Formats: sequence, structure tokens, C-alpha cells
Amino acid sequence: MQKRHLGTSGLEVSALGMGCMGLSFGYGPAVDHTTGVQLLRAAFERGVTFFDTAECYGPFINEELVGEALAPFRDQVVIATKFGFENGDSKQPLNSRPNHIRAVVEASLKRLRTDRIDLLYQHRVDPHVPIEDVAGAVAQLIQEGKVKHFGLSEAGASTIRRAHAVQPVAALQSEYSMWWREPEREILPTLAELGIGFVPFSPLGKGFLTGAINESTTFDDSDFRNVVPRFSEQNRKANAVLVDVLGQIAERKQATRAQIALAWLLAQQPWIVPIPGTTKLHRLEENTGAASVVLSADDLAAIQVALDGITVVGDRYPAHLQKRVGN
Ligand SMILES: NC(=O)c1ccc[n+]([C@@H]2O[C@H](COP(=O)([O-])OP(=O)(O)OC[C@H]3O[C@@H](n4cnc5c(N)ncnc54)[C@H](OP(=O)(O)O)[C@@H]3O)[C@@H](O)[C@H]2O)c1
Repeated sequence: MQKRHLGTSGLEVSALGMGCMGLSFGYGPAVDHTTGVQLLRAAFERGVTFFDTAECYGPFINEELVGEALAPFRDQVVIATKFGFENGDSKQPLNSRPNHIRAVVEASLKRLRTDRIDLLYQHRVDPHVPIEDVAGAVAQLIQEGKVKHFGLSEAGASTIRRAHAVQPVAALQSEYSMWWREPEREILPTLAELGIGFVPFSPLGKGFLTGAINESTTFDDSDFRNVVPRFSEQNRKANAVLVDVLGQIAERKQATRAQIALAWLLAQQPWIVPIPGTTKLHRLEENTGAASVVLSADDLAAIQVALDGITVVGDRYPAHLQKRVGN
């Protein structure tokens, strides 16, 4: 697979990374441990060198899984993880106090079976801790060699600028896909100006853009999509028009919807690196195949016209979580 640079940080990763969250958390029961290890190793064998986890995925078991799976080729991969919640639990309050960041990093290093975290993100901006203090704490960890690069997730433009002034930010990880294009307005121009890479999460719209989900799909009780307004039965029905359009484009390009959704993101900027997640080998192969799908200027223009004609319905977060993004 081709490689990309995350902005001007010098961090080089495969053009598509692997989102590891769903193996342990968010979309129903965790996969069994051996299956998870095998899938992550299969991703590496197919050229993926960028793996995304977080303390709170599980919590903790996703980092353990990633650590075990990647240990045999640790020096050939880039591991990204995240801090930012009390007790590593995303349902608890935010906590980005410097002493907490340090404690989380020490624990993550052990779970990841490594002596350095290649990319450490603040998972959500903590309104109670100035971002300068967060950047300063990460800068100290970078000086000590425990962390290589600093990242933010779902941060607003002014926070990105303030953080970057203290410790250069290598990458922002936020939601971006054909059905959530808000980052195009202010975030992408800011990142371009500052030389910061962009890592779109949920690049497949949490599975919706692939066509595998429709209005009658039911999710496991523990599946996060049950509380996402965009995934209500009514909104899935309304948003099916986007899946249909994507299907037409995919057919023309002899690719799948998932591949078009990922190729479209790759085509936006050379410093964009999507991190699709899957628990299934055949989908991993399908998704990595997107790195070879080339969209011409005409294709991109036609997609733009189609997307501009569609209004996506439903918020991407319930109200209490919406408050935590874009700050
Ligand atoms: N920073 C943050 O706050 C944040 C938030 C969310 C996610 N993330 C990161 O971003 C990564 C990716 O995001 P995501 O998992 O939310 O969403 P995603 O990659 O857009 O979609 C994942 C979902 O799509 C399904 N899927 C994957 N490939 C498919 C294909 N080819 N055909 C049909 N269905 C397919 C998966 O199901 P199967 O497993 O059944 O294939 C899974 O349910 C996560 O793993 C995590 O590392 C970060």
C-alpha cells in the first residue's frame, strides 16, 4: 500500500490505517481475542502500518489486543492511542490534567507492550484544563521519548492553533466522511495552513455508507448506534438516498461503496489518512483495496454535485455527547 505523511510532522503511515475500536467496543460484543489478533496481523500483512486505539476502547482491552498483535513487528508500525477520560471510561467526565495524562501514558505503554507511543491524541478537549497545559504535558513526554507525536481529536480550530503554538500537532482525528463534511468549512483549511495531517474517523459512516445497513437493521443492545440520532429507523430510511447514489458511483467505477467512500476521502488531500474499522477479514481486504481506486477529476466533480444535492438527516451524536465535540 502507498504511504502518506501526516502533515509536516515527518510521521509516515500507510494511506489507509486500521481503526481498532470495533474489535473491542462500540459496535456490540468484542470479538474473541484470537480472532482480533489474527485480523490485526492480517492488516499488517496487507500493508497497513497505522493502527488506531484508545485507552477507553473496552476500556483497556483494545490496547492490550493491539499491543499483543503488533508486538512481532512493533518497529514497522505506527501505533496511535488516546487519553482524556476519568478512569479510561468514556462515560465518565473528561480528564486531561497533566498528572493524569502522564499516568495514562505509563499504563498505555504497558498494555501496548512498547516503550513509546508514536501518536498520542487528546480524545476530547477538556474545558477545565487549558489546552496549553495539555500540550505542555505531552511536550514533556515527547522530550522523555515516551511519546513521538501529539494529536487532537474533535478539537475546534482555535484550540488547534493554541495547542500547535506550544507543541506542534502532527494530526487531528475527527469524523469526516461523505455524510459528515463539516470539517471542510474551517478545519481542513486550518490544518492545511498549519501543516497538520488529518485522520478521518468513521470514514464509512459507522458502516452506513457501505450499504450493509438499512432501516430494518437491528443492532446489539450494547451498540452505540442505538443512541445516534442519525441511525434512528426514520433517519436511516431518509438517508438511504445517499447509499443509493454511492451505489451508482460504485457500479460505474467497478468498485464497492466502501471503496468509493474511502477513495473519496483519500482524494481530498494527500495528508488525509482514513482509519476504517472492521471485524471481518473479507471487509478488511475490500477496504484496503480502496487505496488502489483512482477517482478522476470528473468522478470527483460528479460526486460533489451528487453530494451537494443530498441533505443528510439526523445528528451524529446525542445531545450530551455533542457538547464534547468542536471545542
Ligand atoms: N476519535 C474518536 O472520537 C473516534 C470515534 C469513533 C471512532 N474512532 C476510530 O475510528 C475508527 C473507525 O471508525 P468507526 O469504526 O466508528 O466507523 P467506520 O470505520 O466508518 O465503520 C465501521 C463499521 O462499518 C462496518 N464495515 C467496515 N467495513 C465494511 C465494509 N467493507 N462493508 C460493510 N460494512 C463494513 C463495520 O462492521 P464489521 O465489523 O461487521 O465489518 C463497522 O460496524 C474506529 O475503529 C476508531 O479507531 C475514533
